[in-house]
Amino acid sequence: AFSPLVFSGVQPTGNLQLGNYLGAIRKFVALQESHDCIFCVVDLHALTAQLVHKDLKDQTRSIAAAFIASGIDPKKHIVFNQSAVPGHAELAWIFNCVARIGWMNRMTQFKDKAGKDRENASLGLLAYPSLMAADILLYRGTHVPVGDDQKQHLELARDIAQKFNSDFSERIAAAGLGVEMMMGEEKVNGYFPLTEPLIEGPAPRVMSLRDGTKKMSKSDPSDLSRINMTDDSDTIARKFRKAKTDPAPLPETIEGLAGRPEADNLVGIFAALADRTRQDVISEYGGRQFSEFKPVLADLAVTVLEPISAEMRRLMADPAHIDAILRDGAARANVIAERTMTDVKEIIGF
Ligand code: ADP
Ligand code: NA
Repeated sequence: AFSPLVFSGVQPTGNLQLGNYLGAIRKFVALQESHDCIFCVVDLHALTAQLVHKDLKDQTRSIAAAFIASGIDPKKHIVFNQSAVPGHAELAWIFNCVARIGWMNRMTQFKDKAGKDRENASLGLLAYPSLMAADILLYRGTHVPVGDDQKQHLELARDIAQKFNSDFSERIAAAGLGVEMMMGEEKVNGYFPLTEPLIEGPAPRVMSLRDGTKKMSKSDPSDLSRINMTDDSDTIARKFRKAKTDPAPLPETIEGLAGRPEADNLVGIFAALADRTRQDVISEYGGRQFSEFKPVLADLAVTVLEPISAEMRRLMADPAHIDAILRDGAARANVIAERTMTDVKEIIGF
């Protein structure tokens, strides 16, 4: 069997926001206690939606700083940036030849991000899931902590692994590189694992503060739509004060949140920040006005984020130190990556 390994990545595009923290980074911190983990700043992915960036290197440092400030240990685990390990792009090319165009055309994120002018989207945006599969499988990652938004891409990574394993099954066996694994009821030998999603507890989906139907995102043009991990306490208070809500007070029961996406979102954020259930939050605050609830929520967010952003600022003041951490992570990642690429080249017959 494959040894358990967690892989996850965050793009260096824009300010990290509360959804990234609650939905991803905080989960990473918990996972590092039980798993070997690789946390990657996926700077190659950043080119898919926008080619020219003015501060890619700083954005990369700031994601790495957020990981470390949140509690990820870069000595026990691996923290690095994707472009520093050539295997990602190399394996992605091979996966581009494994995957079918039809598979890519079905990706809802591609449809969303490409919008109406699909002919003018980059080829990289279409092939994004193939690079993501390479990110994970270069380390033969067995588990990926994913939000809802990445589930379809992870399924595609499994499809790619499965097709590679079956198209090359004889070569994998001949090279003695097969690992015994279950595929449904059947025992097969494969080179790449069928990576599983890892959902630790409820996966909160944090929505925009301006539109309860859109997810909070660092690429949303409206800064008021999100709480950035580095916002100061006044900004956090102001953004929650301005958060869109309906005029009714908080419902007395959790069922009363149905059909009230903005109220539901603020209760969900409170629950996630406090590590409590929504039910719990409603039991305490049901019937209160938002004018009362929002300042409490803002204080809670400040309590959670302030120590992290202070540590991020401290780390960002010494870019050479972050670069050294990233270089060390890349060197360790590269050892695993080179081993995989040597095997893959043997299997393909290069
Ligand atoms: P963004 O949409 O902010 O650019 P990314 O696509 O880089 O974020 O996602 C990085 C990680 O953060 C992913 O694991 C994703 O599932 C998680 N994530 C992003 N936005 C949210 C959100 N609003 N709620 C929960 N998790 C989120
Ligand atoms: Na995104």
